[in-house]
Amino acid sequence: MFLNLLLLLFCFINYSGTTPIPVPGTKGGNATLSCEFEDHEISDIVLSRLSKKILVCQNDECKSENGRVFKKGKCDIMLMHLKFSDAGKYILRVYHNNDQTEVLEYQLLIQDEISVKIDEKVKLHVLLTNADKVEHQTINRTEWTELWKRGVEVQNDRLTVSDETLTILHFTVNDTGKYRVLDSEGEILITVTVTVTGSKGKLDTDEDKTNESWIIVFFVIGALLVLLVLIISAVIYQRRRMNPERQHRNTEHEPVPMQDIQ
Ligand SMILES: *[C@@H]1O[C@H](CO)[C@@H](O)[C@H](O)[C@H]1NC(C)=O
Ligand SMILES: *[C@@H]1O[C@H](CO)[C@@H](O)[C@H](O)[C@H]1NC(C)=O
Repeated sequence: MFLNLLLLLFCFINYSGTTPIPVPGTKGGNATLSCEFEDHEISDIVLSRLSKKILVCQNDECKSENGRVFKKGKCDIMLMHLKFSDAGKYILRVYHNNDQTEVLEYQLLIQDEISVKIDEKVKLHVLLTNADKVEHQTINRTEWTELWKRGVEVQNDRLTVSDETLTILHFTVNDTGKYRVLDSEGEILITVTVTVTGSKGKLDTDEDKTNESWIIVFFVIGALLVLLVLIISAVIYQRRRMNPERQHRNTEHEPVPMQDIQ
């Protein structure tokens, strides 16, 4: 009886409370949305994000929207290879065998650290659909300065915005520190700590690096294909020269090529 009352109270708090459970994660790492009902009989669990179901489990049989979301244990959810776009609110519905339903709300915060070179262009791929504001905090300071706000034109001429990317041109020491991205409710989505490196700096974020390596891969494949075509052409040319009779015999069964008419 007491336990049921407690559960009811818990339910009430979760339904009415607007503060989600904060879950920190590192870009590229894993995060676990912990479920507190391990010792109850659970039939189904449903994880939703932006009113879309991303994981549905019925009696331990799970269907996930992508290969990066798993159920761990009875109802914990693990998210793997975190990306900035994973940041935000998650709602977990846990259906018990006794027809009770629990609702848990999480806020996944993605953290990243990058090192850049002075006077370079620094790209932050953080202006995601749920992003509302980007703020900057200089090292050893406490106040946050607003850099970008959805729907408001950027005033700073060293900043440009395109394709969900905030670019800082000519990075200076004063630009180092923390950058945080907030959603429309003021909840933190992403925190990026930017430091300066001496000689070798990681200039852009990882996405740019993968883009570059893909371009190289395409170039190599293209070059190999051209080489292959050249070799095949050379072989065909050689065989035609060495074997004119066979070529002739073959053409008896095939339509006569144009060159032969002329
Ligand atoms: C994430 O979880 C997977 C599977 O458990 C593990 O193989 C991997 O090492 C983890 N990654 C990190 C960064 O902890
Ligand atoms: C920040 O403070 C630490 C010690 O509190 C100091 O060593 C460091 O130089 C300061 N950094 C800047 C950029 O002022």
